[in-house]
Amino acid sequence: MDQVSRIKELKEKRNAVILVHNYCLPEVQDVADFIGDSLGLSIKAAETDAEVIVFCGVTFMAETAKILNPSKIVISPQPHAVCAMAQMCSPSQIVDYRKENPDAEVVGYVNSTAASKAEMDVCCTSSNSVDVVSKLSSGKVLFVPDQNLGRYTKSKCPDAGVVLWNGMCPIHHSITVGQVRALKEAHPDAVSLAHPECRAEVLDLVDHVCSTEGMLNICRGSDRDEFIIVTEVGMKHRLEKEMPGKRFYFPEYAVCSAMKMVDLDSIVSSLENLSNQVDLDPQVIERARLPVQRMVGREL
Ligand code: 13P
Ligand code: SF4
Repeated sequence: MDQVSRIKELKEKRNAVILVHNYCLPEVQDVADFIGDSLGLSIKAAETDAEVIVFCGVTFMAETAKILNPSKIVISPQPHAVCAMAQMCSPSQIVDYRKENPDAEVVGYVNSTAASKAEMDVCCTSSNSVDVVSKLSSGKVLFVPDQNLGRYTKSKCPDAGVVLWNGMCPIHHSITVGQVRALKEAHPDAVSLAHPECRAEVLDLVDHVCSTEGMLNICRGSDRDEFIIVTEVGMKHRLEKEMPGKRFYFPEYAVCSAMKMVDLDSIVSSLENLSNQVDLDPQVIERARLPVQRMVGREL
């Protein structure tokens, strides 16, 4: 039996759902029950009736699903698929900041560990950071860990008092103005879109700034047929599959190796053995639940 048929069989046997991020390998995207950005997948994780959630992406995504579903089995098929940015703000750094700034609220990008989420007031994703921050009233908001998403959010919420942290995504932060200018020169009729994890000077060059799912929506809704996509190259598969008549151009070297770790073999073996289960400290789950529920619009 091939791996795809085996995954289908195991999914039924285990009553499992497979959630896949837009940057994953093409063959992994093709076995997804749901594919999307961090917010869309977190909402699916909050809504599912399945007993087992297989989260293909990086580990903070599976941890977020576990925080929303503490009684379910949540599988992260490759436990070493760690987002580099999620390591850039530790729980103790947030605690220390709060001691010095007791009046501040802490907003954390979902690309954080569960232990850091437990110290936040509210989490957000790249698609709702502006909505989340604009609803806060303290006038002083520490935004962790991504300086670029933080800076973009601050530009849209100038009165929120956003204070930036110095974390960043090594892949998006490495995309240069020169690369984007060269793409625009080579494809002068293309609409340009960038992920808000890119540097501000890159964001200044493009027509739209949005999450990965936001990019798919804009390309789908556009009557144009050429697009410059300034984000991780895994997006190409879904864009080309869903919009075969359109062309998509990416900056070179924008590859997140952590996002490529989950493969069909790891999904099969995790489902066969119910291995690689996310195991979080119950106290961390308890404390992280409210900030994550506020992110998905499901407050207690
Ligand atoms: P999205 O939520 O936009 O899919 O982004 C996740 C991510 O890790 C981007 O690097
Ligand atoms: Fe993390 Fe960057 Fe990879 Fe996204 S692309 S998972 S932010 S390292």
